[in-house]
Amino acid sequence: MQTNLRGRDLISDLDFSKEEVETVLDVAFDLKRKRALGQPHAYLRDKVLGLLFFFTSTRTRCSFEAGMAQLGGHAAFIESQTTQISHGDTATEIGEILGRYFDGIAIRQCDWGIGNRYLNEVANAARVPLLSMQCDVYHPPQCLADLMTIWEKKGRDLRGKKIVVSWAYASSYSKPISVPQSLILQMPRFGLDVVLAHPPEFELMPEIMDQAREQARKYKTGFDVVDSMEEGFKDADIVYAKSWGPLVNITDPAEITRVTNKYESWITDARKMALAKEDAIFMHPLPADRNIEVTDEVLDGPQSVVFDEAENRLHAQKAVMALTMA
Ligand code: CP
Repeated sequence: MQTNLRGRDLISDLDFSKEEVETVLDVAFDLKRKRALGQPHAYLRDKVLGLLFFFTSTRTRCSFEAGMAQLGGHAAFIESQTTQISHGDTATEIGEILGRYFDGIAIRQCDWGIGNRYLNEVANAARVPLLSMQCDVYHPPQCLADLMTIWEKKGRDLRGKKIVVSWAYASSYSKPISVPQSLILQMPRFGLDVVLAHPPEFELMPEIMDQAREQARKYKTGFDVVDSMEEGFKDADIVYAKSWGPLVNITDPAEITRVTNKYESWITDARKMALAKEDAIFMHPLPADRNIEVTDEVLDGPQSVVFDEAENRLHAQKAVMALTMA
C-alpha cells in the first residue's frame, strides 16, 4: 500500500502509480462499506473543494458534491460562464487565487487542445491538489470507478481477461476521446488484455497510443487495434463501447458529421453482445445515446453494469479526495 498521496494532483491516469491506484481503490471499498453501514467518515471536516466546470455534467458534479458532504466538507460549484474567467481571469490567476480559498481544486475543461493545458497551468499556480474532472485527454475519476467496478464483477486477478474498448455511433454531439484514452492507459497495469476497436477516422492520440503500448509491454498484456466492432467484441470479458469524436484527424464540424454518419451500424445490440463471452459485462460512462449508441435491451439488460459503475464514481472520488486533501 502506498500512502504518500497527500497534496498530489490527479490529471493524467498515470500520475498515480499502480500501487497508489490500488491504495485509492482499497480506501474506496472501505468508504463504500462505511456508507452502506451508515458509519460516519468525516475525514475532510471543514475542508472545501472548488468544482470548476467549463462543460455540462450530471454524474461528475453530483458525485463530487455528495462525496465532499459525506466526508464532512463542502464542495463549491463554479461555472466558468458565471465567473470573470469569461472576462479574462487567466489559468495562473485562477490557480493562485482559488488555491488560497480552497483545500483542493477540481476542474472539468474538455475543449480540444485546451483542457489538459488549462488544468496543468492551474495546477502549477495552485498550492493545493488539482483533481481532474475530465479534460480533452484524460478522464481519471471515470477510469478509477471503472476499474473498481471491474474488480467487483470480475475479481482482482484480471490476467488473461479481455476488455474491448470500442467506438460507437452517436448523433447527439462529438464526445471527448478522454474515456477510451484513460482506459487503454490504466487497464494494462491491472492485467487486462486490451483490444481497441474503431473506424479508421476515429484514432486516439498517437502519444497516448505509444504510452498504452508501453504499459502493455511492461505488464506483459495484450494490446491490439481492430477496425470492426464484431471482431473486437469476440470472446471479450468486458465490453466498453462508447462514442467519441474524430478529433485527432478532423476539425471541420460538417466533415465530422459526414464521417460519423458513415458508421451508424456501430451500435451495441444483443447480436453483437452474443459475440462476447456469455458472462461478459457491458460498461458505459453515460450519458448514452439510447438505441443509437447502445440498445435499451443491452443498456437495461442483465449484462449491463452501468449503474454500479456510476455509483462507484462516488466511492472512488471520495477516496481520492480523502487521500489527497486530508
Ligand atoms: N460519465 C460522466 O463523466 O458523466 P457526466 O458527464 O454526467 O459527469
